[in-house]
Amino acid sequence: ISARLTIDPHFEVGPINRRLFGSFVEHLGRCVYDGLYEPGHPSADADGFRQDVIDLVRELGVSTVRYPGGNFVSGFRWEDSVGPREERPTRLDLAWHSTETNEVGLHEFGAWLDKVGGELMLALNLGTRGTLEALDLLEYANVASGSTLSDRRIANGRTEPFDVRMWCLGNEMDGPWQLGHRSGTDYGKLASQVSKALRQLDERVELVVCGSSNAHMPTFGSWEREVLMEAYDDVDFISCHAYYQERDGDLGSFLASPVDMDRFIETVIDTADHVKAVKRSTKTIDISFDEWNVWYQDRYRDVDRIEGIESWPKAPRLLEDVYSVADAVVVGGLLISLLKHADRVTAASLAQLVNVIAPIMTEPGGPAWRQTTFFPFAITSRLAGGRALEVKLESPTYETALYGEVPQLDAVATHDDATGRTAVFLVNRSQTDSATVSIDVGGLGGVNVLSAQTISDDDVNARNTLEQPERVAPHGNGSAVVDGDTLTITVPAVSWTAIELG
Ligand code: AHR
Repeated sequence: ISARLTIDPHFEVGPINRRLFGSFVEHLGRCVYDGLYEPGHPSADADGFRQDVIDLVRELGVSTVRYPGGNFVSGFRWEDSVGPREERPTRLDLAWHSTETNEVGLHEFGAWLDKVGGELMLALNLGTRGTLEALDLLEYANVASGSTLSDRRIANGRTEPFDVRMWCLGNEMDGPWQLGHRSGTDYGKLASQVSKALRQLDERVELVVCGSSNAHMPTFGSWEREVLMEAYDDVDFISCHAYYQERDGDLGSFLASPVDMDRFIETVIDTADHVKAVKRSTKTIDISFDEWNVWYQDRYRDVDRIEGIESWPKAPRLLEDVYSVADAVVVGGLLISLLKHADRVTAASLAQLVNVIAPIMTEPGGPAWRQTTFFPFAITSRLAGGRALEVKLESPTYETALYGEVPQLDAVATHDDATGRTAVFLVNRSQTDSATVSIDVGGLGGVNVLSAQTISDDDVNARNTLEQPERVAPHGNGSAVVDGDTLTITVPAVSWTAIELG
């Protein structure tokens, strides 16, 4: 098959916020314990953090990291996680039926983030707690000194404030599974009150109100409207969450997951802008897509779920999906979808970071390795600079069971005025045919191919595992050539490709 696209720096979507390359660390399974933190590990540093994981997180190119949940946060008491470790309580985590020792808390995670060079994004518990506890945490985290809670932070070892800007007003409050789940209007009123209070203390905070847990929730659309009718003036972002998986062998629909993400984003923008109109507001709400990934949720329900009231384990192996080449192609496609909406999606978090539906896996006492999904994220984070550009794409289409007729190819470009570099990201969703793509680069005024990397494999189910940690990796795509104003490249069936031009 063949496709054409045109890249022109004038076709601007918007500036790319580095927060688009955020991730998410939840106290869930082995994300924290036996993941990023393992004091007995040969590579552990003086603080008990695995250096091999730190190195991989840096290579991944993560910006903001959302913490500490997730569903976990709706039962979390932040005070448990600070102060002398031997005095910290052991709690039962109702979300994941696990035992939380609080050995790693706010200070330890903050120290780890300093090592990986990330920005802390904190989620507040608005499930079982409210305004007062949120204010206490903000005082503890952001006030320099001179109050009981800020001085307690200093006594606990952190002289400088954490200076957290991004705050999530709870987590997935539309979900019946969420502790403290409530109606859109009730939650919107609470979010509004908490936001006003937080801003009274620190006007620099950037606040994310909960949107729907996914676009297929029965309340999707009305939830966003009800919440924003209450909280529009008080918040900066509304969240989106989406997880995708291949179901019943329907690879065609699965590969088209980014089409669903596109529609999801555009519907939430429409809804937010509708409320803006109703309120005669001049302010625009952005999207924080603060949970997105491939997640085989059926496996969680069938295999991972811990039942009963006794013996909730510490750091069990939960949600440890092992990703395939096809999963990596979908993740690359989801990144394209985020970039295509960079004007309104100004923050996003790949959920999650280590071991739990994660690009990085670890074995206790053993190695850490890159899952297939590591590569599209790391490459996009490294190459996508400056502004996102819309590409005028002409592509054949195919029919899917879930999303109707969708394009075989999808693409986005980025252009950095400072360096003069351009990057093109493209997916080929055909399961049978390679695609020859002609790219009109005349608008860039003379460019060379600096690099072209493709993720594909004869076996779309190939995976990286403990036994074969380097089975899948991106490979150079030598077919990319520029002739005059045209760049031509051939991309295999079921593939994701990044081209760097300069
Ligand atoms: O990321 C795993 C879980 O997915 C999170 O805890 C929750 O917010 C979502 O449902």
